[in-house]
Amino acid sequence: MRNHLLAAAVVLAHAAAAWAVPPANVVRAPGKHAEDTCTACHVALDDEHLRAPALLANGDIHHTQGITCAGCHGGDPASENAAVAMNPARGFVGKFSRRAIPEMCGSCHSDPTFMLRYAPNIPTDQLAQYRTSKHGLALAKGDTSVAVCSSCHGAHGVLQVNDARSPVYPTRVVDTCGRCHGDAALMTRYGIKGNEITEYKQSVHYAALVTKNDLSAPTCKSCHGAHGATPPGVSSVSNVCGTCHPTQRERFDLSPHKDAFAALQQPACESCHGNHAILHPTDGWIGVGEKQVCGNCHSVGDAGATAAFAIAGALERATAATAGAEGRVDRVKRAGMLMDDADVKLEDAHQSLVVAQVEIHTVNPTRVDEQTKAVLASTGAADTLAAKAEAEIRYRRTGLFISLGVIALAMVALIFKVRAMER
Ligand code: HEC
Ligand code: HEC
Ligand code: HEC
Ligand code: HEC
Ligand code: HEC
Ligand code: HEC
Ligand code: HEC
Ligand code: HEC
Ligand code: HEC
Repeated sequence: MRNHLLAAAVVLAHAAAAWAVPPANVVRAPGKHAEDTCTACHVALDDEHLRAPALLANGDIHHTQGITCAGCHGGDPASENAAVAMNPARGFVGKFSRRAIPEMCGSCHSDPTFMLRYAPNIPTDQLAQYRTSKHGLALAKGDTSVAVCSSCHGAHGVLQVNDARSPVYPTRVVDTCGRCHGDAALMTRYGIKGNEITEYKQSVHYAALVTKNDLSAPTCKSCHGAHGATPPGVSSVSNVCGTCHPTQRERFDLSPHKDAFAALQQPACESCHGNHAILHPTDGWIGVGEKQVCGNCHSVGDAGATAAFAIAGALERATAATAGAEGRVDRVKRAGMLMDDADVKLEDAHQSLVVAQVEIHTVNPTRVDEQTKAVLASTGAADTLAAKAEAEIRYRRTGLFISLGVIALAMVALIFKVRAMER
């Protein structure tokens, strides 16, 4: 600890002297400052272990900002003499114990005055948050298997978090957490299943992230937070779904489940959707049969099952009516009719069906019915328009036959007339 304080003091003294009040975000060309003997010597060492950090310095955010090896390790970066440069009396720390790493990184990152000079927009709460997390709590008790700052960010070649190559970038953070959380042998020691990574990789969320590049889809850190026990603004991980799916949350809060689940300490959304392997839900989930979610807690004869059957029935009728009307409108269109009005009705029907599927979270058949009735009204209107168009097609066809007949008759008459004149 003493070493560490010394290191921090040297770092700050050095910062003040060598980079005397650099304007924030000054980009220094890597390796260009006169006083970085650490990198200069290490980059030429034979031992790969000692050379690697120096080779990584080029793209390192710290190095780019003029924070050299000594920023973390202390020592004297102005001396070309190894014994002087790496003298513990000058605050040098060669090997960090894992336990010391968060405090070391935090010596700058928790110091708002220091950070302000470089990057005024970066929060300075990582260490404070980290101490509240399972990782931080376990580390404080001496458990060194948990993540420290460098497990997630690296120590050398640290990249900005919005750099797509960073190990904490949304598309990559899963594998970063997975280095430990995918290790079932390690995780079972803590009573954790260790299947979170495989499960998450089956989810709609992961699919959205990797196939649609939809960065708004949640990764491990969206639900669990990066540094703290939970993400900022969420009291428990179980409440996190509602931050991105507010309408489903609102409807759930109107349901009898809200109080019932709270009394049973049953989480709101996960009871039906799970947490990691969240799949695309369908109408077919509603019921008490096998693989139907209501059946986990309700059975035939109780009020929950009765509601489930009513809701499922209403959705089925609405879906069937939508499919029917869509098919009919489509056929008429292929016959060459313009059906813009019917398309608007079908779109209305679709919208109401989507709302009905959200309303199922109230588990109130009347509320779902209101929407499915709107679906039926819209599909009914589309049907009527299609029927009119079909009549129009028939009328035009009849008209065509009659006019063709008249033309044919006229032709025949003309032919007779011509022949008569020839004679
Ligand atoms: C003149 C060359 C030279 C300079 C200058 C130098 N080093 Fe080293 N460094 C070495 C060598 C050689 C070793 C391996 C032998 C040893 O541990 O002393 C080493 C080892 C290290 C280690 C690993 C220590 C361990 O216990 O495993 C760290 C970390 C390190 N240096 C950081 C620094 C920092 C920070 C600076 C600048 C303040 C610096 N070095 C300056 C040559 C140098
Ligand atoms: C942002 C802080 C930071 C900077 C800057 C930094 N290091 Fe390190 N270094 C660490 C941490 C943390 C570790 C321990 C790695 C771990 O356990 O994950 C480490 C480990 C090392 C080791 C391995 C020690 C061992 O025996 O395991 C060497 C060698 C080293 N650093 C050299 C350097 C050199 C040379 C530079 C400059 C080019 C440098 N470091 C810059 C934080 C830093
Ligand atoms: C369990 C993995 C993990 C650990 C441990 C961790 N971080 Fe992070 N860190 C992240 C992730 C993920 C982000 C990206 C957050 C985001 O995108 O909102 C991040 C973001 C950051 C940022 C950018 C600003 C911010 O807060 O978003 C800094 C700086 C940072 N971390 C420093 C640290 C320091 C210092 C420590 C140790 C006290 C630490 N981190 C420990 C995963 C981690
Ligand atoms: C000597 C002070 C100092 C130490 C020690 C330090 N950092 Fe930094 N770090 C900074 C500064 C200053 C920046 C801001 C650079 C910028 O973005 O302009 C920064 C930036 C970062 C970023 C990029 C944040 C972003 O913009 O997305 C990460 C991640 C980070 N540090 C992690 C660490 C980790 C991990 C450690 C410990 C292994 C550490 N830092 C130790 C000063 C330090
Ligand atoms: C270096 C290994 C390591 C890395 C990397 C790591 N973790 Fe952990 N994590 C652990 C260990 C070990 C525990 C068990 C700690 C305990 O229970 O005392 C843990 C515990 C947790 C817990 C608490 C689980 C519970 O309820 O008991 C969560 C949540 C968690 N980690 C999330 C993450 C996330 C998210 C990431 C990536 C951003 C991550 N971890 C990266 C090792 C790691
Ligand atoms: C959509 C939100 C969400 C995402 C994404 C997510 N989790 Fe979870 N995770 C949860 C919820 C909810 C729980 C239930 C425990 C709780 O309420 O704290 C949980 C539990 C856990 C646990 C404790 C499991 C146990 O057996 O005790 C770990 C460890 C964990 N998650 C790690 C991860 C990792 C690693 C990732 C990324 C691959 C991840 N989670 C992605 C929401 C999420
Ligand atoms: C950070 C925001 C975020 C969080 C947190 C979040 N989701 Fe999502 N969720 C999304 C996004 C974005 C999609 C859209 C994926 C797509 O493109 O299909 C989605 C899709 C879904 C879907 C599939 C919708 C469909 O029509 O297929 C379900 C179900 C779902 N989330 C449930 C949950 C549950 C349950 C939780 C909490 C455990 C949760 N989500 C947490 C953003 C989030
Ligand atoms: C009682 C079981 C249950 C609970 C609790 C539940 N859901 Fe659902 N959820 C469903 C079913 C069933 C569907 C499928 C609806 C459909 O397609 O007919 C669904 C669909 C969804 C969808 C897909 C879009 C949609 O509305 O059709 C999202 C997103 C979603 N739920 C999020 C949540 C969130 C967030 C919570 C917690 C606030 C939650 N759900 C709680 C059963 C539940
Ligand atoms: C995780 C367990 C669980 C799941 C899954 C679940 N319920 Fe419930 N439900 C309860 C509990 C507990 C109550 C309150 C006690 C009771 O009345 O049985 C309740 C109450 C109800 C009620 C009010 C009953 C009354 O007496 O007024 C309805 C309606 C209902 N649920 C419908 C559903 C539907 C529909 C589904 C599937 C989409 C579903 N539930 C899924 C646990 C669950």
